[in-house]
Amino acid sequence: MQLFLNRKFKLAFYIACVGLFGACNSSLKNEALDFDRKADFNDKWSFYLNDSIRDNDTISETTEWRTLNLPHDWSIEKLFDENSPTGHGGGYLSGGLGWYKKEFSIDESGKNKLISIVFDGVYSNSQVWINGHYLGKRPNGYIGFEYNLTPFLNYGKTKNVILVKVDNSKQPNSRWYSGSGIYRNVWLKTTAKLHVDIWGTYITTPKVSKDSAVVKIETAVQNSDRQEKTAMLRTRIFDANTMVKTIKEAFAIGAGQNQKITQNILLDAPKLWSDAHPHLYRAYTEIFVDGELIDQYKTNFGVRSFKFDLDKGFMLNGKQTKIKGVCMHHDLGPLGAAINTRAIERQLEILKEMGVNGIRTSHNPPAPELLNLCDEMGFIVMDEAFDMWERSKTKFDYGNVWEEWHKKDLEAQILRDRNHPSIFMWSIGNEIPEQWNERGAEIGRELSKIVKTLDTTRLVTAGMNPPIHIKNKEVTLQFEDTAAEPNALAGSGALDIIGYNYAHQTYAQHQKNFPNTPFIATETTSTLQTRGHYDFPSDTTKIWPVRWDKVFTEGNPDNTVSSFDQVRAPWGSLHETAWKIIKKHDYLSGMYIWTGFDYIGEPTPYTWPSRSSYFGIVDLAGFPKDVYYMYQSEWTDKTVLHLFPHWNWKEGQTVDVWAYYNHADEVELFLNGKSLGTKRKEGDDLHVMWRVPFEAGTLKAISRKNGAVVMEKEIKTAGKAAQLKLHADRNTIKADGKDLSFITVDIQDNKGIFVPTANNKISFKLEGDGKIVGVSSGDPTNHESFKGTKHSALNGKCLVIVQAGDKASTVKFTATSPGLKEATINIQLN
Ligand code: GAL
Repeated sequence: MQLFLNRKFKLAFYIACVGLFGACNSSLKNEALDFDRKADFNDKWSFYLNDSIRDNDTISETTEWRTLNLPHDWSIEKLFDENSPTGHGGGYLSGGLGWYKKEFSIDESGKNKLISIVFDGVYSNSQVWINGHYLGKRPNGYIGFEYNLTPFLNYGKTKNVILVKVDNSKQPNSRWYSGSGIYRNVWLKTTAKLHVDIWGTYITTPKVSKDSAVVKIETAVQNSDRQEKTAMLRTRIFDANTMVKTIKEAFAIGAGQNQKITQNILLDAPKLWSDAHPHLYRAYTEIFVDGELIDQYKTNFGVRSFKFDLDKGFMLNGKQTKIKGVCMHHDLGPLGAAINTRAIERQLEILKEMGVNGIRTSHNPPAPELLNLCDEMGFIVMDEAFDMWERSKTKFDYGNVWEEWHKKDLEAQILRDRNHPSIFMWSIGNEIPEQWNERGAEIGRELSKIVKTLDTTRLVTAGMNPPIHIKNKEVTLQFEDTAAEPNALAGSGALDIIGYNYAHQTYAQHQKNFPNTPFIATETTSTLQTRGHYDFPSDTTKIWPVRWDKVFTEGNPDNTVSSFDQVRAPWGSLHETAWKIIKKHDYLSGMYIWTGFDYIGEPTPYTWPSRSSYFGIVDLAGFPKDVYYMYQSEWTDKTVLHLFPHWNWKEGQTVDVWAYYNHADEVELFLNGKSLGTKRKEGDDLHVMWRVPFEAGTLKAISRKNGAVVMEKEIKTAGKAAQLKLHADRNTIKADGKDLSFITVDIQDNKGIFVPTANNKISFKLEGDGKIVGVSSGDPTNHESFKGTKHSALNGKCLVIVQAGDKASTVKFTATSPGLKEATINIQLN
């Protein structure tokens, strides 16, 4: 197999390098370090979807297979269906039962190796066979797992067949869009019989100062050979391409034994990891037998110290650091659940630009690629395990298999994730129904113990609900004036940090209620917005629906929600409300806003025809809503002046104009050159507002500090839609069959002014070695396929995602729409 030739070559090169240790040890070339036990195993799978499973969920000789590459989500290829059993939560995209199959051969040289298959996540209820031998099942759709293939493999010319059955037919089983299929990466792992075990390193930094850091490396070594072995374990620490420390340890290990070896290294003047400077080191763990390198394992780690202080909140490397986080579901908008590293990176880039420094992986173990990116880009991660324990939230969810699987799944998550420097908290659950009774306390203690057995360096929390009473829209906290335990889980002693979802009215009481436990707002806000849609007046707050258990009868006939910060879910708050309280008290470590991006499913406050959420600060296509700039003005050093809404209204209509700004004392507004007055934020205000009778033309804002102009912003009334304008986030991408270019299509008038009300239907064409893999306008009510080549814009905008083929070439993208001037753009594949 190709794979083996490459590996052999690299190994030979590497051994030569080890021989020349003195010459190579301080700065090794990438090639030498590029020794990977895991090979990408995503290409050319056969897929068959059995949509109508009743009594026949098997495959046969006549099954018609389709060839595709993983990661793959079959639900995203479907059309929205009001009657889909996934319902409101699943975004009306259906599940079903799918089969995947792959044929592959293994070179004779693989005979002395251990070969296994690693799945990063399959949604859900997967079962796997190799050459007809059953390997096992995994109900949890979000956890990674591995099967040893070695005893069942054919070597040389005889092929091997791996078969995977994925059953996501029992619906509903999720409160949000889950996707279906092998939607994360698959790897073929090859090791020596003596090797570093699965998730076999545990790297911690028990002592950290500016001058030095103790790095403790625990390595689990597995000897699957029939003989005892004597070997040498070498760990080398690299800072980029420079080796900074090395340590060796000789050991003997019996046949079939697993052994833990601990090594301690002192790093001088360590470069610390932080959200602002996420510096990473890499450990290369290597096993030598008779001087020959037989296994190598890579672990990224960071050196940082932190604490959740009772008075000062979250302290990172001794510095008070407010967590300005967002909750994220795992879907990637029009790409569905099928993971793509660049798509995740783009989401994180957009959030970082807004000032976000924290991600909560609501409400499940995330893709490993997300955690790698959070390590690299500097996000403070709350890694969450479960949305339910033994009591289900939807009929067929994980609650049904809780008893048998929760321990195994939680252990796998902690072992998989515990080296990521970006993770600071484990959340053992979200709004768990058992929180209200003793069973919640019991399970909470059990889960906390599982976590602590494997990792004592982070804190355990959960997203809980304090018992608040809502009467005539007035919210009161049940235990407002007492130090009583607000809920059984909170009082169980299982949690190191009290985490509340919403209930910002209770935050000011926290130190009284829990004098010995720090606080994090695990989930806040739940404000609702449609990008680019505005209702007036903007300064009245709407609670949609009025109560969580009330049928929603208000709303706009076209299922829009105003993009002013004025409409919220009854359990939530407006954006400004939540941030003001978090900002005010040092002891509040921070918050994770619901949500960073819109996601598919849970289209609160509406149901069909709405099919995706309104909670995002950024819409499903990745276009920021206005409130993005409120956060940017508060959370970044960038100079901000954001003026909205657009300037296309009816003559004489009263329009509210808002501005988010910073680095200035005041903002003056002008309409067609006439001043409409100067406004300044007073007290804890986060925006200013003018009430203006509309007149077509130019609206202009100028922010000033001490009289000097800081920034200017202009919005012009647009004429009729006349042309399309394209902008790619990257004009050059990798020709690797995976990389993506995100192309924004704007609708403009004939003068090049953005038309903020245009919803024209646009057609897309790609010529060359690439394909269109997703389209979205961010409209939560749109029913056109995410996988189509036509889509209607929402308020002037639409997004098209182009994926590279694997030939270095140029691809040409064209957008057309009747009556509008077409546009083209070239993307270079390198
Ligand atoms: C929370 C829940 C989230 C989401 C959100 C919507 O209570 O934890 O998963 O449903 O409400 O506002």
